[in-house]
Amino acid sequence: MSSLFQIKVLLILVRLSLAFAGLVLALHAGDGPYFVTYSHQMEEPGNLEVSLKNVVGHPRGDNRFLGTAAEFEYGLKAWWTTELYAESQARMRDGALFTGFRWENRFRLVPREHWVNPVLYLEFENINGANRSLLEVVGRDGESELRGSNAENRQEKKRELEAKLILSSYFKGWNIAENFIAEKNVRHAPFEFGYALGVNRPLGLAARAGVEIYGGLGTHADFGLRDTSHYVAPTISWQVTDSTSFKVSPGFGITQSSARFLLRLGVSYEFAQIRGRGRETRTLPDYLAKAESRASQSSNPFEGQELARNAGSKLYQRECSACHTSGRAPTLLNSSAVKYATPGALFWVIRNGSLRRGMPSFAHLPDEQRWQIVTFLKSR
Ligand code: HEC
Repeated sequence: MSSLFQIKVLLILVRLSLAFAGLVLALHAGDGPYFVTYSHQMEEPGNLEVSLKNVVGHPRGDNRFLGTAAEFEYGLKAWWTTELYAESQARMRDGALFTGFRWENRFRLVPREHWVNPVLYLEFENINGANRSLLEVVGRDGESELRGSNAENRQEKKRELEAKLILSSYFKGWNIAENFIAEKNVRHAPFEFGYALGVNRPLGLAARAGVEIYGGLGTHADFGLRDTSHYVAPTISWQVTDSTSFKVSPGFGITQSSARFLLRLGVSYEFAQIRGRGRETRTLPDYLAKAESRASQSSNPFEGQELARNAGSKLYQRECSACHTSGRAPTLLNSSAVKYATPGALFWVIRNGSLRRGMPSFAHLPDEQRWQIVTFLKSR
């Protein structure tokens, strides 16, 4: 190969990767990359998110399996998200089957954004022993339960109630979340306990990356770490378009009872505002007046900057316009109230939302992105 040709190829590659980087920056970070851990991020009211979560595992001395959960997540209120799961499983050289359903509800307990934000999670599940979705690890769950034929495992019926206390914080765009899990078979068996911990941060505008650690904590009768499974799983999510995101996470078992390796893949599609339009909303001024007295910072670091304005315009289209341009919420563009509000008050409203009245919190966006939105709103 001539060196001229090599240089040309190199230039094309550089151009392609710049174009790709530009594309990535133009997109946004979604709900984050966790598979097992929950943050306090709720589904936006009126939005429906449909996801498929897959996990592939290969227990020692047994066949490879693929567990799949189809999830339908709906924002009923800014403080109440409900979710339905339908699950199936396929085992190599065996077959595929339906393995049950779950119904989950998450309640955000404190309306405003705080250092630590508690969410209560309540779930009912009706699954069978062949279920391999592995959406949580509790008690002494371990690799041994992942063995055996579907025909045999499906005989075991599991009707369970599960509660989680979710504590979660955003700090400069980072999310840190701790979940404590208690699960009880409705008929028999003691309470089983588990935990999940996660941290993630944005990578540019389109992706988030982090790590999850989760495992069992034994039972009510025998609490502790003996014979429990634990996993460490780096994870990354990527927002491919405004409504579609992918995530992937390789998980490593770190105790004797754990499966050695689990590969998780997820894809989600979000339908914005499926619940009709034109609901009555309060007028802007008194809300912003209240925000004004609470705001700790009043000047916008990006004031009048063209680049920030453009980024803010994209963010507005993606995060705000579904409600604020449809009549479901007051219009913000060319609004005199936005014009007279201080930048600090707008920033405060975007961070805290007005959960009881249907305005979500955007605390998961890094500060810069919230100031970019303010810059855009103030330029209109
Ligand atoms: C799920 C729908 C929804 C989304 C998405 C949304 N908002 Fe709102 N927003 C509302 C509702 C509803 C209100 C009215 C709240 C009230 O009356 O207390 C509101 C109020 C506001 C207000 C104060 C005006 C008022 O009357 O209280 C501002 C400022 C605002 N939103 C900015 C934004 C920005 C900026 C975004 C995007 C980052 C955004 N909103 C995204 C629903 C939404």
